[in-house]
Amino acid sequence: MRKVRTLGLLGTGVIGGGWAARALHCGVDVIAADVDPKMEKRIRETVEIAMPQLQALTAGMPMPARGKLTFTLDPAEMAAKADFIQENVPESLELKLRVLEPISKVADPDVVISSSTSGFMPSELHTGLSNPERIIVGHPFNPVYLCPLVEVVGNSQTSPDAKEAAAEFYRSIGMHVLMLRREVSGHLTDRLQEAMWREILHALNDDIATTGELDESIVYGPGLRWAIMGMSQLYMLSGGEGGAEHFWKQFGPSVDWPWSHNTAPTLTQEIMDRFTKGTADQAAGRSVREQEMARDECLVAIQRVLAKYNMGAGKTLNEFEARMRVVTAG
Ligand SMILES: NC(=O)c1ccc[n+]([C@@H]2O[C@H](COP(=O)([O-])OP(=O)(O)OC[C@H]3O[C@@H](n4cnc5c(N)ncnc54)[C@H](O)[C@@H]3O)[C@@H](O)[C@H]2O)c1
Repeated sequence: MRKVRTLGLLGTGVIGGGWAARALHCGVDVIAADVDPKMEKRIRETVEIAMPQLQALTAGMPMPARGKLTFTLDPAEMAAKADFIQENVPESLELKLRVLEPISKVADPDVVISSSTSGFMPSELHTGLSNPERIIVGHPFNPVYLCPLVEVVGNSQTSPDAKEAAAEFYRSIGMHVLMLRREVSGHLTDRLQEAMWREILHALNDDIATTGELDESIVYGPGLRWAIMGMSQLYMLSGGEGGAEHFWKQFGPSVDWPWSHNTAPTLTQEIMDRFTKGTADQAAGRSVREQEMARDECLVAIQRVLAKYNMGAGKTLNEFEARMRVVTAG
């Protein structure tokens, strides 16, 4: 399996910048390619903003020296120098197909090319490509430098070695790998988020609640538990001593009640305006950067607490620490 000393990034926006920070902090060099020259300044800023949070997250762990970041406007240069390529261009299949072909022609055959796509399946990304076996999906979560989850997706055309090499690389930079059993559009997590997002859009459309009230319904209740346990385990616990059996007896019938929608409402200007105004009210004058800082500080603190209990993302952090002790000792 090829050792990843240099991570190549194609597209250096929100997600590309997050990958860069995470990899650099774990001692991996990064060569980042974008079509927009302004993105060099942006990615360097993103990395500097992320670093104190990453240091706080891994405080007390033996970390290697920080990797080196280079930026290029030439994707072919990136592809020629990278040991692993993560594609992060905007979510357009036509664009992704257009950028994947040339870099796959330049990259060495054992270099895995992984797409951050939120919803396209490998079979869609493989359309017309000559070497689909090393092109997979590695779907991360924003902010990539603090959220450990990455969904790894392949299909019958992808080589198991490519998926395994990707999983090994992601674990080496502190991530929790969720290997999908088969490709489905939206992968796993975005299917779940999509279901909730549809309900939020309906609530805005029907003027049932503001974005602030909808977010309260998450943050003070279910959201607080979701970092510790997922929906299935929590629902089983809501059956009390009777566990799953009592849960089904009490709540089984409600699956047929018409609480929720299967399709989104038509996206009108009114819905988008309610979202824009609602989230501006929630921000209460704080800039996006200030809100991101608050989010990031809490993400670090929550994971450090979860590590004490070896739960959820805290378990990933403990496993990463054990791994770093071996890597840095050797
Ligand atoms: N934003 C999220 O929360 C999130 C989460 C998970 C996955 N994703 C996925 O990650 C990918 C990137 O999303 P993002 O939010 O970072 O987008 P973004 O708009 O912030 O960044 C995209 C970057 O790609 C660059 N780009 C455009 N065309 C290019 C080309 N031909 N070659 C090289 N660079 C090019 C742009 O200049 C920009 O810097 C998408 O597939 C998206 O679905 C996004």
